[in-house]
Amino acid sequence: MIKTNNISFSYKEYETFNDLDESDRELIFAARNSAENAYAPYSQFSVGAAIRLESGTIVSGANIENAAFPSGICAERSAFASSISNYPGDKPSVIAIAAKTADGFTEDPIPPCGNCRQVIAEEESRTGKHIRIILSGKTKTLIIDNIGCLLPLQFNKKNLKVTHP
Ligand code: THU
Repeated sequence: MIKTNNISFSYKEYETFNDLDESDRELIFAARNSAENAYAPYSQFSVGAAIRLESGTIVSGANIENAAFPSGICAERSAFASSISNYPGDKPSVIAIAAKTADGFTEDPIPPCGNCRQVIAEEESRTGKHIRIILSGKTKTLIIDNIGCLLPLQFNKKNLKVTHP
């Protein structure tokens, strides 16, 4: 017997900035500011990510490239490296991502790459808390409830049958 399963998800699309919550707007601005600190001489694609922790604290990160390409790191992982290193007990609740080229902030909201999705999934599994994902374009914003939407059937610690410390 073969079963066909279906996975779908909904996400919110905001056409103007004004419809967003003040705290989400603030997080988007933090991500945009962080993109200004990117070190992206090879791609010329500057990405900023800002994470809001449960306490309200904002931690941000930018992409940092390297002449040895795989040694670079994306903005999202840069931000999580900082938040987990400095505030391990303060659980991330939202991440905002923004990207910039020579023409300014991208019209299209930029989705996280596969590696970053896996890292966001690990962080949800580490903390037991969903992380809302805000993808910010120049005017359009997408809001996704949690990483399960972007990374269904994900591999995580449950598959390793490791008990959480
Ligand atoms: N990049 C990010 O920082 N985040 C993403 O989710 C997508 C890609 C960076 C990696 C690289 O420095 C540049 O954007 C071009 O791929």
